Amino acid sequence: MYLTKNEEKMLDGEQGYAVKKSMEILVALGNIYGAEKLIEVGSVQVAGVSYHNLGDAGLEFLNELAKDGKVKVLTTLNPAGMDLENWQNLGIDPEFARKQNLVIEAFSKMGIIVSCTCTPYLIGNLPRYGEHVAWSESSAVTFANSVIGAKTNREGGPSALAAAFVGKTPCYGLHLDENRVPDIHVEVVADLTKFSDFGALGYCIGKQAPNTIPYITGVPEVGVDELKTFCASVVTFGAKPLFYMQGITPASEKHQPPKEKITIGNSDIKAAYDAINDETEEIDFVCIGCPHASIKEIAKIADMLKDKKVAPNTEFWVATSRPMKQLSDKRGYTQIIENAGGKFACDTCMAVAPLKGRFRTVATTSAKGCYYSRHNKMLTKMGSLEECINAGVTGKWN
Ligand code: F3S
Repeated sequence: MYLTKNEEKMLDGEQGYAVKKSMEILVALGNIYGAEKLIEVGSVQVAGVSYHNLGDAGLEFLNELAKDGKVKVLTTLNPAGMDLENWQNLGIDPEFARKQNLVIEAFSKMGIIVSCTCTPYLIGNLPRYGEHVAWSESSAVTFANSVIGAKTNREGGPSALAAAFVGKTPCYGLHLDENRVPDIHVEVVADLTKFSDFGALGYCIGKQAPNTIPYITGVPEVGVDELKTFCASVVTFGAKPLFYMQGITPASEKHQPPKEKITIGNSDIKAAYDAINDETEEIDFVCIGCPHASIKEIAKIADMLKDKKVAPNTEFWVATSRPMKQLSDKRGYTQIIENAGGKFACDTCMAVAPLKGRFRTVATTSAKGCYYSRHNKMLTKMGSLEECINAGVTGKWN
């Protein structure tokens, strides 16, 4: 890979340890994937923030980099393992909290915005169409590539951090237009009547057309919240982190549906629910906000929970970013949700919080949330917001 004089100097250590290490990572990646050069990025999203996943080795790696590392571009963070302000209320162990705070301190020292959300595009890290960025977190990467039309590979935590310290990333993969061409036409003839149907649709496409860039037709109308849950699902279940949705995503006009075609109908959507939903009635955990809930979703939750009470043996979480919670506070939604017995889980989520062994069955609107909850050994139920609210209030799925 070609390096400029300045990049050579960074690799030689002229700008310190963190930049040198970062250049080593970027050059190694560039050489593996055949990149010709590094390109500038407008922003970075760093995943791998939960102490639950990092452990002591990860913390040590971050502390080494934080000694002299400072990010060169706008850099935001993915969810951490706990609500940074209200972790006690969510049942987090104090020793875990201490370690998680050390992780956050290290990131903060590097000049990273401690945003702790997987929806950076909702809180100010919003690239423009066509802009190169280096994001990790698969749902955000898919949203950036597809819904915004920015260009990013699916970075890992270390490669995203390296891009932040250098301000550049190797130019390969989805940074190149020739690799952004759709390779399968997905015709949707299913009805898609409720929010979670978009997670089910992502499941169907990921499973039936793995490792492809789908060009999707037949989705008549869809909001940003449906798109973000679809992004999370389609990539989790197997597709590449880029899709085109005719008439909806900005670059869909530039392409034609490819010849190879699959059709997703109502029976496929039903089969997706059958695969995701376990046989169980009792619900002891409800989590809404995967990806992190928008203010619009929080408003709906507040509206539906008004004058209701969460069942005594059920925990009800709204996972969201702190700025969204602050808007919710101002509008009075927080009070309504908390009066009903719900809790806000800011800065964290059902996948990265240490939840293994705490709950038996989760109800959620998110297909991705179900996928990771199974990793946490929970039974799963996916449904509409109404069904999840009902599960929270009754402690049952019906
Ligand atoms: Fe976000 Fe966690 Fe879901 S990172 S997409 S809320 S699993």
